[in-house]
Amino acid sequence: MTDFLVKRDDLRECRIAASEPIELGAGQALLRVDTFGLTANNVTYAVMGEAMSYWDFFPAADGWGRMPVWGFAEVERSEAEGVEAGTRVYGYLPPSSQMPVTPASVNEAGFSDGSPHRAALPSAYHRYLASGSDPFYRPDTEDVQMLLRPLFFTSFLIDDQLADDGLVERGPVVVSSASSKTAIAAAFLLARRDGVELVGLTSPGNAEFVEGLGIYGRTVPYDEIGSLDRGPATFVDVAGDGEVRRAVHERLGDDLVHSMAVGASHWDRLGAGGGGELPGPAPVFFFAPDRVTKRSRDWGPATLEQRVAAAWHPFCEWIAPRLQIRRGEGFEGLEAAYGELLDGSVPPSSAHVISL
Ligand SMILES: NC(=O)c1ccc[n+]([C@@H]2O[C@H](COP(=O)([O-])OP(=O)(O)OC[C@H]3O[C@@H](n4cnc5c(N)ncnc54)[C@H](OP(=O)(O)O)[C@@H]3O)[C@@H](O)[C@H]2O)c1
Repeated sequence: MTDFLVKRDDLRECRIAASEPIELGAGQALLRVDTFGLTANNVTYAVMGEAMSYWDFFPAADGWGRMPVWGFAEVERSEAEGVEAGTRVYGYLPPSSQMPVTPASVNEAGFSDGSPHRAALPSAYHRYLASGSDPFYRPDTEDVQMLLRPLFFTSFLIDDQLADDGLVERGPVVVSSASSKTAIAAAFLLARRDGVELVGLTSPGNAEFVEGLGIYGRTVPYDEIGSLDRGPATFVDVAGDGEVRRAVHERLGDDLVHSMAVGASHWDRLGAGGGGELPGPAPVFFFAPDRVTKRSRDWGPATLEQRVAAAWHPFCEWIAPRLQIRRGEGFEGLEAAYGELLDGSVPPSSAHVISL
């Protein structure tokens, strides 16, 4: 058994560690982690590991953490009824060679991990989907699925909430970290709605890339936030950068109709921009699993899944040729990719896929 471990109180410290083989209990199965995507979202899981319990999904000992990833695994051994060895599944995984699960709610679509330590954690992360009957799955788009599927789900829900709350009719939607995959997917969906005005905020070095996407009406580098038009607008904050947030709130103040805190891609700048109250409305945290719960209640889980899958395929076709995959092999490849993510040195046109 091999693990990639991150020091919980210092994300720059990480190590590859060997441990004892996993003993399976009755009713358990062993997943062999195969391939997964790696983006700023995974770093955010580590940044928020304590505050949002992301470390609790795949616990590690002594102040170390297993940073969650999304990808494919294969059932290596199974003592669980209805779960066959050799089944390929997609889901939330540790950056480890193997992972024990306690399959529950087993059906032809897959199973949930019913391990007791996960019971109190959001259920949106528990399902392992058999590729054969998964409406998102296509063998030729596995890379894009690993990288973008969880982010797209969030973006779908952001687009849905902004429309549902009538915010898209109340001035432009201003999106920070406009070059991130989460922002791109949200902008792609919002741009399909009539009359939505989109402004992408990004680093000066990523402005040309953002402009070239053709989905934002206007691209504004962070150092030109003072040039934003005054008037009603909604802020979708994917960067989480304290200084950017302050600049937007100071420029738009009470004209801001809503300030939605989505992400923390600028993970080492959360506290920047000084303390004190922000002008305009207080930012409201957007947590995708909460919105999943709401829409599952409103529409039923199957309809939600179908709607997201229907929106996913056109996006997948649009983004795939725009994305260069950087392939990493083994735990050394993972460690190198993780370092690049921490440094913010991955160009927005690229993304890491790691095969263990
Ligand atoms: N609330 C939720 O439920 C939810 C769900 C999904 C994702 N998210 C969050 O959305 C954020 C974006 O995730 P993603 O996977 O889409 O990101 P990504 O595609 O990997 O983002 C890449 C972009 O983020 C910025 N960036 C990344 N690392 C940086 C660094 N170290 N320093 C400075 N800038 C950096 C740069 O954009 P710019 O130059 O344009 O700033 C870069 O082009 C994450 O924080 C993620 O957790 C939240």
